[in-house]
Amino acid sequence: MRAVDIIIKKRDKRQLTTAEIEFFVRGFTNGDIPDYQASAFAMAVMLNGMTPTETTDLTLAMAHSGQVLDLSDVVDIAVDKHSSGGVGDKTSISVLPMVAACGLPVGKMSGRGLGFSGGTLDKLESIPGYRVDLTTDEFKKQLKEKGIVLTGQSLDLAPADGKMYALRDVTGTVPSIPLIASSIMCKKIAAGAQAVVLDVKTGLGAFMQTMDEARELADLMVAIGRLAGRKTVALLSDMNQPLGAAVGNALEVIEAIETLHGGGPADFREHCLHVAAHVLVLGQCAKDLNEGRAMAEKAIADGSALEKFRVLVQAQGGDVSFVDDMSRFERAKYVEVVNAPRNGFISQIHARIVGEASVALGAGRAKKGDPVDHAVGFVIHKKVGDQVQKGEPLLEIHANDEEKLVEARKALLSAHQLVDESVPPLPLFYE
Ligand code: URA
Repeated sequence: MRAVDIIIKKRDKRQLTTAEIEFFVRGFTNGDIPDYQASAFAMAVMLNGMTPTETTDLTLAMAHSGQVLDLSDVVDIAVDKHSSGGVGDKTSISVLPMVAACGLPVGKMSGRGLGFSGGTLDKLESIPGYRVDLTTDEFKKQLKEKGIVLTGQSLDLAPADGKMYALRDVTGTVPSIPLIASSIMCKKIAAGAQAVVLDVKTGLGAFMQTMDEARELADLMVAIGRLAGRKTVALLSDMNQPLGAAVGNALEVIEAIETLHGGGPADFREHCLHVAAHVLVLGQCAKDLNEGRAMAEKAIADGSALEKFRVLVQAQGGDVSFVDDMSRFERAKYVEVVNAPRNGFISQIHARIVGEASVALGAGRAKKGDPVDHAVGFVIHKKVGDQVQKGEPLLEIHANDEEKLVEARKALLSAHQLVDESVPPLPLFYE
């Protein structure tokens, strides 16, 4: 078998066999198949798609490209959650501690920024010392002892996805249903989660822009999860406007911590409570969503969720003083407040434009391996449906470069639409 023939077959819209997919994934993982062929393969899949059978084969091949954890001797039931990617989506950073504080162990492998969407690992690395490269043994030990893990893909868990993810970010091959489904589900399978809540984003700032695409992705991931013997639930949530207020690595961690302190923007808090409730139900810790939600609310109110976050940061080598004193986070050189150009109601904050502008400021990458600037980003003060008066603060730009700040201001103003008539707020969840 030759990699080039597999690429040609997919380029010509033909269906790959299990053996071909396994060959490609194995070769890419061990370095026999170089990045340029893997990029061509990803582009062929992006353009021509895959059948559910091919996607399942790709998922399983990537899950088995390294170790597949069996956590049955570590915890009673290991739960996990995963988002399909969005702008301002710092949900995992708040939800994992909430859930773990309710007594349900949760271990998660997250990713870095992907295209215009931010990545949990890049965000967490704004806490000095925080390690995202736990080994499998460390993952298991920490899950057993602390009940919470939030790390990157170790070299021995789904390494094929780790490599492919980095390539996709910089080759325009992110928004593909089979590539996203296999990327997310292989990590869930490899990390040994027995129950998974998938947060599938839909809208302008999601990889799946329409409800139909989001539903297709959700259905496919649920089918793959069940096939692999994992209890899997998918929620469809809004990503037309950024989630919460902060967009950018350190700014988002600060917002996630504020939420654990009982503050944070109302939409983000509500989103987290809903996701946490689903995780608690799926993990058999709560009998229904109402009970799950009440448990998560209590974990915030009594400080136990925040305490779990401290435990997480400490266990992974991070400087815990940042959790209690958020002024310690690196701040950008320039912070500019942008005011509303007119009176009106906000009818749109185009999440993709905001995400792309944050990448251009330095919060994301232009090419594989680029460093990210943790300090830059935006804080959005008004959301869709809010009424504003001319001159009232709309948002803040945090930048380390004056020229980039000017570009970001232009982009952010173009992302905001103001109209005369009142507009309803956007829903948080659709299905
Ligand atoms: N999250 C992932 O882990 N992979 C994707 O491809 C998209 C979002």
